[in-house]
Amino acid sequence: MNAEITRIEAPVSMDLIEEIWTMWETVPEDVGVGEDISGLRDELSNAVRTEDRKLLYVARVDGKLAGTSAIWVSRRDPKLAEFGLPATAPKFRRRGIGQALFDAPVADFREMHGEAIFLGASSYAYRTYYRAGYRKLVGSVALAYITSGESPEAYLVDFFRDLGPATVSPGEHADRTSAVPLLHTPHNSQVMDANVNLLSLRYNQFLGFAGQSGRYVDLLDCEDSTFFAARAGERGKVVGLSTAKLRDGTCSVDGFTHPYYEGSWSDLIESAVAWGKEHGAIVFAAAVSDEDYEKREMFEALGFKDAGKGDGFLLDSMQIKNYEQGKKVGSVRLERS
Ligand SMILES: CC(C)(COP(=O)(O)OP(=O)(O)OC[C@H]1O[C@@H](n2cnc3c(N)ncnc32)[C@H](O)[C@@H]1OP(=O)(O)O)[C@@H](O)C(=O)NCCC(=O)NCCS
Repeated sequence: MNAEITRIEAPVSMDLIEEIWTMWETVPEDVGVGEDISGLRDELSNAVRTEDRKLLYVARVDGKLAGTSAIWVSRRDPKLAEFGLPATAPKFRRRGIGQALFDAPVADFREMHGEAIFLGASSYAYRTYYRAGYRKLVGSVALAYITSGESPEAYLVDFFRDLGPATVSPGEHADRTSAVPLLHTPHNSQVMDANVNLLSLRYNQFLGFAGQSGRYVDLLDCEDSTFFAARAGERGKVVGLSTAKLRDGTCSVDGFTHPYYEGSWSDLIESAVAWGKEHGAIVFAAAVSDEDYEKREMFEALGFKDAGKGDGFLLDSMQIKNYEQGKKVGSVRLERS
């Protein structure tokens, strides 16, 4: 491999962003960066997501751009990062450039005393990720690089241990990366949050992972929705999330916590209800899977009552020839005024 790998921290120059886009246009697979250059430009020029440090890696062969990769390191909790933008131009493939682009951020992150890098992967790159040290999470398409060498499952269990009491406060953009460990922890409820269609890994394979926390952050950018986070410990680890969505005077609320922090669940829901009240809601509604009877009881303990059937949920959904298959479960609509 005669490629030179360079690390560049965002904001990245417009010239380089255009050079990257031109290279990506030669990549036939979906790199997951949108239809035009605008998303990449916003991301790498730091017009969006400034709550994370973005370290971009570019590979050049004889000066020509051959590949890219990047990590987003949380500024709030620099021990957590996400990996993305992996691509090698077709004519430079199978000579170790992809491997070098996966290895370089891992080496830098170790030096930065980071703990875990998460990513959502397409299966054909698994071996390259594996060689870089990433391990697939059970029940998910996600992979994690854990610097201690623990399995992702062991890391995720330890991550939430002994953090002390949690406090609930409004969600922030910086929660996008901080919430990733929580979102990757299997939950006993089938439906963790109906407002953002978040289903537990215990019953449903995630098809992507970064999008899961993006769904929360996107709620902050709309006037009729928001989210709250329960945080615990010195690092302000996210141990629970709730959401509120307003429509025609009704505020839909939902939320979940890590099993160790169930005591924060009612605070999370009441925070979402209080936000709805401040924004003019008169009815508060929740959609609960027919099989999540514990969650139903928890809502009932907060005064929510049966208001008929809801739309139901599809678990383990899979697209087969334009037909969506999976396990259908009914739901109950609970309301409180
Ligand atoms: C995934 C991707 C980045 C790999 O790029 P690459 O530069 O070809 O990666 P590498 O050369 O390091 O490794 C690819 C294969 O070439 C092999 N290889 C490496 N050096 C080689 C050499 N000198 N001669 C022959 N084969 C070689 C590797 O063993 C590997 O094969 P394997 O996976 O069957 O073991 C590239 O295929 C790509 O851009 N795909 C589209 C975007 C994408 O899917 N990204 C990942 C999303 S999760």
